[in-house]
Amino acid sequence: MPLALRFILPLLIVLAAFAYAVMPVVDKLTMRWFVRDLDVRATLIATTVQVPLEDELATRSAVRINDFLNRISRDERLFAVGYCPAPASRAVASRYFPAEIHCSDLSLWEGENGQLLDTPSGPLHVSVKPLITADAPDGRLVLVHDMSFFARRSEETRRYIFYFFIGLALSVSLITVIVAQFAWRGWVQGMRSLLQGAGHSRHNPVPPAKVVPEFKPIARDLQRLIRDLQSEYRARDESQLTWTPDTLRAILHSELRGENIIVVSNREPYIHERRGDAIEVQRPASGLVTALEPIMRACSGTWIAQGSGSADRAVVDGRDHVPVPPERPAYEIRRIWLSQEEEQGYYYGFANEGLWPLCHIAHVRPVFRSSDWNYYQEVNRRFAEAVVAESTTKDPIVLVQDYHFALLPRMIREALPEATIIAFWHIPWPNPEDFAICPWREEILTGMLGSSILGFHTQFHCNNFVDTVDRFLEARVDRESFTVTLGGKATAVRRYPISIAWPPDPAMVAVPVPRCREEIRRREGLPMETAIGFGVDRLDYTKGILERLRAIERLLELKPEWIGRFCFIQVAAPSRSSIDEYQHHEAEVRAQAAQINERFGGGGVPPIVLRIEHHEPEDVYRYYRAAELCFVSSLHDGMNLVAKEFIAARDDEQGVLILSQFTGAARELPEALIVNPYDIDQCAAALHLALTMPADEQRDRMRLMRGLVSEFNVYRWAGRMLLDAAIMRRRGRLLDKDGEQTAPATLPT
Ligand code: G6P
Repeated sequence: MPLALRFILPLLIVLAAFAYAVMPVVDKLTMRWFVRDLDVRATLIATTVQVPLEDELATRSAVRINDFLNRISRDERLFAVGYCPAPASRAVASRYFPAEIHCSDLSLWEGENGQLLDTPSGPLHVSVKPLITADAPDGRLVLVHDMSFFARRSEETRRYIFYFFIGLALSVSLITVIVAQFAWRGWVQGMRSLLQGAGHSRHNPVPPAKVVPEFKPIARDLQRLIRDLQSEYRARDESQLTWTPDTLRAILHSELRGENIIVVSNREPYIHERRGDAIEVQRPASGLVTALEPIMRACSGTWIAQGSGSADRAVVDGRDHVPVPPERPAYEIRRIWLSQEEEQGYYYGFANEGLWPLCHIAHVRPVFRSSDWNYYQEVNRRFAEAVVAESTTKDPIVLVQDYHFALLPRMIREALPEATIIAFWHIPWPNPEDFAICPWREEILTGMLGSSILGFHTQFHCNNFVDTVDRFLEARVDRESFTVTLGGKATAVRRYPISIAWPPDPAMVAVPVPRCREEIRRREGLPMETAIGFGVDRLDYTKGILERLRAIERLLELKPEWIGRFCFIQVAAPSRSSIDEYQHHEAEVRAQAAQINERFGGGGVPPIVLRIEHHEPEDVYRYYRAAELCFVSSLHDGMNLVAKEFIAARDDEQGVLILSQFTGAARELPEALIVNPYDIDQCAAALHLALTMPADEQRDRMRLMRGLVSEFNVYRWAGRMLLDAAIMRRRGRLLDKDGEQTAPATLPT
C-alpha cells in the first residue's frame, strides 16, 4: 500500500467515527433550540390571537369559534389549537387536536418550554398559554406544533455534518501528506549532505536549507558508525589479503563487476623504435610506468598515452591501438599523436619547465608561459576526448596519471558525469606559498578536483594539497574525512604509497648474484674484489646526482683506503634533453664525474663510472645484484621506486640502501641508511658505513625492507584505490537511488 494511503485511511476512519459520535450531541442541541423557539412562537401566537379570540368567544357561537381556531391552525407548522375556558370544561379545539390533551390535566403540559408528545402521525410540541378574559379567569390556549419538520431538518443536518467531516478528513490528509513529503525530502537532503560531511568548513557552498540542524547529532553518530565499520573492514581486509595480480583481478570482478579500466598517462609503457630495418620495443625509465604496467597486465583495459617512438605509428591499427606486452598481449595502448608544437608547449614547456620544478624543491625556477598553458589545455582536451571515445559505459573507471593532466579529471567529469575518476599525482605537492607562483593555480586545482579520488604518495603531500585548496578556492574542506567539495562534488584526497610488482618478474632475478657480480665487474673492467656502489636515475636535477658524486669524492678524501677499491657506477637515462636546465645538468654531471676520476682514478679503478644511456630493466637488475650498495640521493621525490627495486633485486638479503630523507620511500624504509643529500659529510659517512657493514646487519635490514615491499606492493597500491572506488560507487548509488546527481560519497580515512 502506498505510504500516503497508509496514512489517509486511518485518518478517514477516525474522522468518520468522530462524526458519528458527534451527531447525537448536535441532535440534542438543535432539538433544545427548536423547542425553545416553538414555545416563544406559541407565546407570540397566544398574544396575537387574544383579542380576536375574545371577540369570537363573546359571540358564544361554537361554529364561529371552531372556524376561528381552524383558521389559526392553517399555519404550516401549527398542527392544532384548543381553548380551555376552565379546568372542568371541555376544550374548544381545531381539527386534529390530540385526544390525549384534556382541560382537566393541562398542568401536565405546562413545562418551562412546553412538552413533547409522540403520536402515530409524528412528534408534536404542546404549549399551554394563559388566555384570560373577564368570563374565564382560568382560560388557557393550547398550541400544538408539528415537529416532523424538525426530524427532516435533523436528517439534513446529519448529512451535512457527515459530508463536512469527510471533506475535512480529505483536506487534512492531503495537507499532511504534502507537508510530510516536503519535510521528508528536506530531511533526507539534510541528512545526505550531513553524511557527506556538510557543515564542517568555513567555506560552505551547501545552501543552509539543505542542512537540518536537528539531525546533526544523528548524522554525526551515523558518520562515526560508517567510518568505524569501514575502517574495520579495511583493517580486516588488509590483514587478510596477500596482494597479487590475482587478488587485483578478483577485486575487479567482484567489486567492480569486471569493469574495464582506462589509464591515461603521458608516457607510454612500450615505445616502438626503428633501428635500421627492424623495430625494437623499449621500456621507458619512468617510475609511473614501472608501477602501472603490472597493474594493466592484471586488469586488461586500455592505456591512453602519447605515441613517442619513431615506429609507433607503424605498429598501430586503424584506431591507433596496439596490443602489449608484445610477447604476450594483455591490454592495449591507445596512442595520441601530438604535433611538435603541442609537445613543446604542453610536455616540455608547461609540464616540465613549469609544474615539475614548481612541485620539487630543487631550487630550479619554474617557467610559466601563456603559450605553453594554451597547449597544455588543448592537449588535456584531446586526451579527454580520447577517454570518452574509449569508454564503453557511461561510468568507466579512469585512472589519470600525474602532473601532465591536471585539467583532465574535470574535463572527463563534464563529459562523463558518472565516471569514477582516480587521479594520481606521482610527484610531490608543494606548500601553498610555493604553489602560489603558478599563474593558473585556480584552474589547476579546479581541474584536479574533477576527480572522485585524488592520490598522493604521502600524507604530507595530501596535507599540502588540502591546504592549497583551502587557501585559493572557495571549496569545502573537511579535514576529518579528508574530502574537498567543490560545486557540490566531493573529491577524497588519499595517501596511496606506490610500489613495485612483488614478487619481481622471475626474468629479472634469473641470473644468480655471484654471476651478476662477476659479469658487471668484467663488463666495467674492474678487478673482482672492487666494491661497487650503484645509482640509477633519469638524468634529472631533482635526483641529486651531483650531491651523490660530491659525497663519493668526500668519502675518498676522508677515507683514502677506498681509493682504487671502490667504484660508483651511475646509470643515467637521458631525459627531457631539449630543456636547457637538463642540458646544463648533464654537462655538470659529466664534468663533476670527470673531475673526481681525474683526482682519484690514478690507481686504475675509476671512482665513478658514468653511463648516460638507456638501460633495459633486466640490465639494471644485474647492476642492483652486483653492487655492495645502492645510493638514492633525490633532493625531492614523490616516492622513488629505484629504492624498492634494489630491495626486490636482492633475494640474497645482502646489500645496503642509502636513501635520501626527501623521498617518499624514506617514510616506509627506516632500515635504509637515511641521509640528507645536501649534507655531504653525512653522505660520505653513510657510504663508509655501508661499505663496512657486517653481512648479518645487512641481512637484518634487508629482510625487514623486503618484508615491507612484498606486503606493500603495487597490487596493494592499485587494489586499495580500486576498492575505495568500489565503495564510492556503491555508496554513490545508494545515496542516488532517486536518480538525483549527488556528490561521490566520502571514504574511510
Ligand atoms: C616521473 C614522472 C612520470 C614520468 C617519469 C619519466 O617519474 O612522475 O610521469 O613519466 O618521471 O619522465 P618522462 O618525462 O620521460 O616521462
